[in-house]
Amino acid sequence: MHGQSSHLSRQIVLGLETSCDETAAAVVVLEAGRARVLSSVVASQIEAHAPYGGVVPEIAARAHVEVIDGLVQEALRQADLGFSDLTGVAATAGPGLIGGVMVGLLTGKAIALACGLPLVGVNHLEGHALSPRLEADVPFPYLLLLVSGGHCQLLRVSGLGACERLGSTIDDAVGEAFDKTAKVLGLGYPGGPAVERAARTGDATRFALPRPLKGRPGCDFSFAGLKTAVAREAASLVPLQATDVADLCASFQAAVGDVLEDRTRHAMESMAVPAGEAGRLVVAGGVAANLVLRGRLQGLCDDLGWTFFAPSLAYCGDNAAMIALAGAERLVQGMVDDLDVLARPRWPLDDVAAQAAPVYKTGRKGAKA
Ligand code: KG4
Ligand code: ZN
Repeated sequence: MHGQSSHLSRQIVLGLETSCDETAAAVVVLEAGRARVLSSVVASQIEAHAPYGGVVPEIAARAHVEVIDGLVQEALRQADLGFSDLTGVAATAGPGLIGGVMVGLLTGKAIALACGLPLVGVNHLEGHALSPRLEADVPFPYLLLLVSGGHCQLLRVSGLGACERLGSTIDDAVGEAFDKTAKVLGLGYPGGPAVERAARTGDATRFALPRPLKGRPGCDFSFAGLKTAVAREAASLVPLQATDVADLCASFQAAVGDVLEDRTRHAMESMAVPAGEAGRLVVAGGVAANLVLRGRLQGLCDDLGWTFFAPSLAYCGDNAAMIALAGAERLVQGMVDDLDVLARPRWPLDDVAAQAAPVYKTGRKGAKA
């Protein structure tokens, strides 16, 4: 990546997102620091993966190839713009399923080359980190709780590419715990929305599920024990009645809420907030769509006098508007990538800290989070 001396303060950027099971394209305008989403289209592959209970990388990559051209056309059509109106192209360059990442990044490179536009290879996590800035003026620095299917971490975000990891999961991501809980209870995939729905009528006090790491120093997370406890309770109740499922979902969600609140409170207490200023907490990622968990975090902020931000539901899950915004913010700073920028399956947001103290060991999961 290199700086460019002459960069435009008004950016109109096409964003592309293909890192998991959503193909997305969007056009975002960034002017005087304020973003406006002109279009944001998402093609979900949920149905293609549902029979397998999770995302199948090869199916995902092929599905991205089939729809991405049409989505780019649709995003431009809805924005009422042509390629020549754009000032840049941004595509997710990682982390994610490598076949899918390559589809989006290659599409971005082709458009950049054919139209003579600057390209930005965006870190998907930076997209989530900046997502609240699509709709509100959220100045740096802020504390970010990133909760999605692949990630669960607390980061101090002080600028573009300037993230300090305060804590991270030592085993499963929180969305993964939702998905596995749903699978064990026969609620299908993706699990988060199904668990939240079932929990609405459930009794959150019926099962005494563990709250891993709650009350411990630091800001790390752990969800493997909670997931196992749900599976054990479910196995002891077979055949499960609808009330059992609802009560298990509610108890699980309450345990997750307790853990997220405890870990986030620690991170808030560790962040120095200048006198006279309110701290800012942002929750982002697919799990941020959960209204019960949002409520818990809002309550925490009310408690500590912090301001709480959460993206609209449309920008919580994977989308290309957040990728376009990350690209636009980078282009305003003159940060452009070369056309040979690589697709990366692993790409921690805080490269330096992650290399010094990897949370994950090497292997299948690598230093993804
Ligand atoms: O950010 P995202 O769309 O993709 C990743 O980058 O992982 O997050 C997807 C995750 C899935 O695990 C899904 O079950 C979870 O977000 N999720 C939810 C809810 N909606 C989606 N988890 C809890 N409650 C929800 N309402
Ligand atoms: Zn994501």
